[in-house]
Amino acid sequence: MASSNRAIVRGIADTFTQAVAQYFGDGPTDVEAAKRQHEGYVNALSGFGVDVKILPADNDFPDCCFVEDQVIICDGKGLLTVSGHDTRVGEQEVVANAINDDIELSKMEPPARMDGGDVMKFGDTYICGISSRTNVEGVQVLREFVAPLGYTVHEIPVPPNALHFKSITSCPAPGMIIAPETFFAEDAFPEGADLIWIPAEEVYGANTIAFGNTLLVPEGYPATHKILRERGFELHAIDMSQIRAADGSLTCLSVFY
Ligand code: GLY
Repeated sequence: MASSNRAIVRGIADTFTQAVAQYFGDGPTDVEAAKRQHEGYVNALSGFGVDVKILPADNDFPDCCFVEDQVIICDGKGLLTVSGHDTRVGEQEVVANAINDDIELSKMEPPARMDGGDVMKFGDTYICGISSRTNVEGVQVLREFVAPLGYTVHEIPVPPNALHFKSITSCPAPGMIIAPETFFAEDAFPEGADLIWIPAEEVYGANTIAFGNTLLVPEGYPATHKILRERGFELHAIDMSQIRAADGSLTCLSVFY
C-alpha cells in the first residue's frame, strides 16, 4: 500500500543496460523505452495524487532508479541501509539528501546489509526477507529501529530464485498479501494473513501498489489480474517490461515518506 502521499523517484541512467540483472531478466536493452516506462510510472503516481519529487539519474550508477533499496521509512523516521550489492552503495547520498529535511535519518553499519526491497510494512509488523541482499545482522538493526516506534519484525526466507521479498509479494490492503504459489510455505507469513496466491509463472504480477481500492499493477499478467478483480480491486496497469529486465518491480522505483 502507498504509505503516504509524497514520494521520491530517480530517473533512469543512460547506463541502465548495465543494471544488475539475474532474476526476472537478462538486463534491459532499450534505455529510451525504460525512460518512457519510468515516465508512465511517475504519471501514474501523480494521477493517484502523489506529490512526486524526481531526482536526477547518475550514469555512474546504472541501478540508481531503484531508490526503495536505500532507506526504510517508519513513522517519519528513516533507516539508511547498507546496500546489499557493492555497486549500489554510492546511490544513497542523493536519496538521503532528498529527504533529510523532512525525515530524521539514522544509518545502518556493516556487517549489517539490507535492501529496502526486502522490507514490507504489514500492519504493526515489518516483514523482512532474508535474501542475497539482506542478512540477519541487517534484520537485527531493523528490529532495533522499529521497536521504539511500536513495531515488530517478522523474518521470512526469500527463495534463491528471487531477488527481494517484495520482488514477489505485496500488501494490497490491510491484512492481505499477494504471493506466488510454490515460492513460500503458507506458515512462513504472519499468522492470520489473508494470502492471495497467484500462479508461479506470473510471479512478477505479485508486486503492486495500492491506492485505496485501486492497484497499480504491471501489464501482462492476466491470471493474476483476474484473481485481483475477483477480490474486488480495480486495476491500473502500466508497461514495466524494461524495468523488469533489470529485476525491478513497481515498489522498487519509489520511496514514500
Ligand atoms: N537491478 C536491481 C538490483 O539488482 O538491485
